[in-house]
Amino acid sequence: MSRLIVVSNRVALPRQAAAGGLASALQAALREHGGLWFGWSGKLAAETAAEVHRLRDGMVDYATVDLSRADHADFYLGFANGALWPILHYRPDLVDYQRSHLAGYLRVNEIFADRLRQLIAPDDVIWVHDYHLIPLAAMLRKRGVRNRIGFFLHTPLPAAGLLIALPNHRELLETLASYDLIGVHAARDLRALEDYFLHEAGATMRRDGRMRSANGRLFRAAAFPISIDTDGIAEMARAALSNREIGQLRDSLEGRLLIIGVDRLDYSKGLPQRFQAYARLLEREPALHRHITFLQIAPPSRGAVREYRQIRRELERSAGHINGKYAAPDWAPVRYINKSFPHRLLTGYYRSARVGLVTPLRDGMNLVAKEYVACQDPNDPGVLVLSRFAGAAEELTDALLVNPADTEEVADALQRALDMPLAERRQRWNAMMTVLQKHDITAWRVAFLQALGR
Ligand code: UDP
Ligand code: G6P
Repeated sequence: MSRLIVVSNRVALPRQAAAGGLASALQAALREHGGLWFGWSGKLAAETAAEVHRLRDGMVDYATVDLSRADHADFYLGFANGALWPILHYRPDLVDYQRSHLAGYLRVNEIFADRLRQLIAPDDVIWVHDYHLIPLAAMLRKRGVRNRIGFFLHTPLPAAGLLIALPNHRELLETLASYDLIGVHAARDLRALEDYFLHEAGATMRRDGRMRSANGRLFRAAAFPISIDTDGIAEMARAALSNREIGQLRDSLEGRLLIIGVDRLDYSKGLPQRFQAYARLLEREPALHRHITFLQIAPPSRGAVREYRQIRRELERSAGHINGKYAAPDWAPVRYINKSFPHRLLTGYYRSARVGLVTPLRDGMNLVAKEYVACQDPNDPGVLVLSRFAGAAEELTDALLVNPADTEEVADALQRALDMPLAERRQRWNAMMTVLQKHDITAWRVAFLQALGR
């Protein structure tokens, strides 16, 4: 079996918390398959990649590099998260494009390619992840790397008409053709990718389903919905019940029904709209007062980017406003926490919640939705309220699907979830759990690597 090299900007180093779907998923995939994980160490240093830090944990080897402050500012904050992330999440209005940021992005990709090149053996299969590293394969090919190289995009991909709002889009996106296989989460992302290549980048579609790029390279694109370690997560949720912290949460509820949200503090997650819908429910249904509690866990993310600071302030105001208006001396309707929690606890929190509220405005997949389902008690499962604009909505069709921008619709779904009879909760949960057991993280990894190997 050839060695797998996984490459991503964010690396979940052993015993180090990393919120984010990519880290959760790749950690689960590599733990099972083994291989080398190459990426950013998470540390800033005087110089980028002066040395490669090596570490081994179980079947996984880690090779990470530090970034200089300037490279981190241009590559990660500037171009990846200031320009690419907003455009990929359908927010051209938030794109802050600067040529110096793009130059930094390309510079760091070149450095990654240099360092990685030295670690690659002829039989290795290389799997690059996410929008930080789009041009990496092209740069590796320039350095003579002939190995199979796959790419997986963990974000949504908007329609070509929107993508072209990104300056220099073609120069960047055409480099995707240097991969042998490009994976996206959902059918709509795949349509967008093909549309972009065929109508903006001069590619053609062949009968065998591969595309030929304008400069003649053959590559394939397909949808591989990412998932979770369904059985492992379910087991963790059962074990969490004996945890002191989970007991404390349950005691503090005093029989109230819990609604839970867990999201990085990101404008793509629809948090202001979610708070508004919850406030609308409280306004509309005084009978629910004191009988429900909304716990929103929102670990800060990318705090050096302006939009992320803004959304943080906005939510603080909104949580304060809801509590100020509706709380009683012995009841707070919202518990809002800017802290990240390990899966060991999150799974127990999910299991304690009657409703999982997952309402991103756009999301590649959204693993929280899947984790929430996997953590439920089969005898008394909770209800998932899920945005139609999360990739997960293509699979979890037995959730209550909503448009997160429609306050009344989300408030209705919350009410319906809180009132839902046990038989319907069980039936919906069983249907979703069947999907998750079949399509777990192992199935995702195997499907992608098999397709890459063909
Ligand atoms: N997560 C975590 N601790 C937290 C919040 C989130 O471990 O405090 C994890 C969560 O369990 C999930 C991932 O971060 O596995 C979030 O993935 P998702 O696909 O929902 O969203 P992303 O953050 O990738 O946009
Ligand atoms: C999303 C992205 C990942 C990223 C994660 C956390 O899931 O697709 O690439 O790792 O968010 O964001 P961060 O900027 O902290 O790595």
